[in-house]
Amino acid sequence: MAALLHRLLTASSRTRNRKILVKCTKTSYFRNSPSLSVRSDEKNGSEPHQLTSGQAVLSRRTRSLSPLDRISSLLPQDVVRQEQDGEADIQVPASEPLEETQAPSSPEEGRRSPSHPGERGLMFGEFLMAEHRKNRVQYRKMFHLQEGGRLLSSYGVIPHNQLAGHPAGRFVKTNRGIPIFIRRPSLEDFVQNMKRGPAIAYPKDAAIMLLMMDVTEGDCVLESGSGSGAMSLFLSRAVGSKGSVLSLELREDHHRRAVLNYKRWRTSWALRRGHQWPDNVDFHISDLCTASELLAGRGFHSVALDLLNPHLALATVLPHLLPGGVCAVYIAK
Ligand SMILES: C[S@@+](CC[C@H](N)C(=O)[O-])C[C@H]1O[C@@H](n2cnc3c(N)ncnc32)[C@H](O)[C@@H]1O
Repeated sequence: MAALLHRLLTASSRTRNRKILVKCTKTSYFRNSPSLSVRSDEKNGSEPHQLTSGQAVLSRRTRSLSPLDRISSLLPQDVVRQEQDGEADIQVPASEPLEETQAPSSPEEGRRSPSHPGERGLMFGEFLMAEHRKNRVQYRKMFHLQEGGRLLSSYGVIPHNQLAGHPAGRFVKTNRGIPIFIRRPSLEDFVQNMKRGPAIAYPKDAAIMLLMMDVTEGDCVLESGSGSGAMSLFLSRAVGSKGSVLSLELREDHHRRAVLNYKRWRTSWALRRGHQWPDNVDFHISDLCTASELLAGRGFHSVALDLLNPHLALATVLPHLLPGGVCAVYIAK
């Protein structure tokens, strides 16, 4: 299931056929008919796959917070099983050089390409996702690929050395013969699975905040508190290499956790892509309510507040918000 979904995502970015995903999403939310239909490719005239009303009800009942999970729960089981059986037997020689995958020159080649364009074979030091699905996700774990390490689960063991150097996004069988899907984490996966200090801004809420704040590449953004660093990472990606994020945190232990998570994502990214994730977040230990000195002379396109009693910080923050800028406040119920 995961393999197929990630293929669709890859294909959609190559062929601009984003309708596939949009259509799946709409189907899951808005249709009330007893059988749901998900077309894999409208243009080539292939048959739509039918979900029974039972499957549809089940997928609604076990609704995950992740949009990716929700869409993948609509994928037909027979197609997924074919992917799984085929992929599990792919053998790539361990001695294969860890080179970047080139962008495919044709759609045909693209379908055969084992990895995302621009990405390398799996490297020691990276964070990876392992998944086992049967109708829905039964096992999911983020792990650190280490020389001599082992991925242990009730489904069996996979030695880490068996993964290094191979492409991401394929099934690998455990010693018990059970296929586990091994892929690289999206930023959403990483944030949901990284070690936490305080509660994080959940991806669906962070996405809305980014929209409300209208964060754009090159923006200067103020954020507080850093907490576990989830929002910092989403902001880091949104402002890009030309932008910057100032992230203030009151507690030293939370500050350390946020910095560590940020470093881990950046390291994993550099191994995966062969180039650096922008180093654009400046973490500080400071009480936002009394941070006037630190903020002196600075202006921000937007501000994200996720802390207790945000109203107490407004007097300090608002003078530094550029005209027309937005201060978004996240208040957990
Ligand atoms: C819910 S957490 C933030 C989580 C963060 N947005 C994330 O996504 O990981 C709230 C954080 O705000 C910090 N905090 C509370 N009051 C603060 C203040 N006045 N100045 C700076 N940080 C503060 C807390 O210590 C805590 O770490």
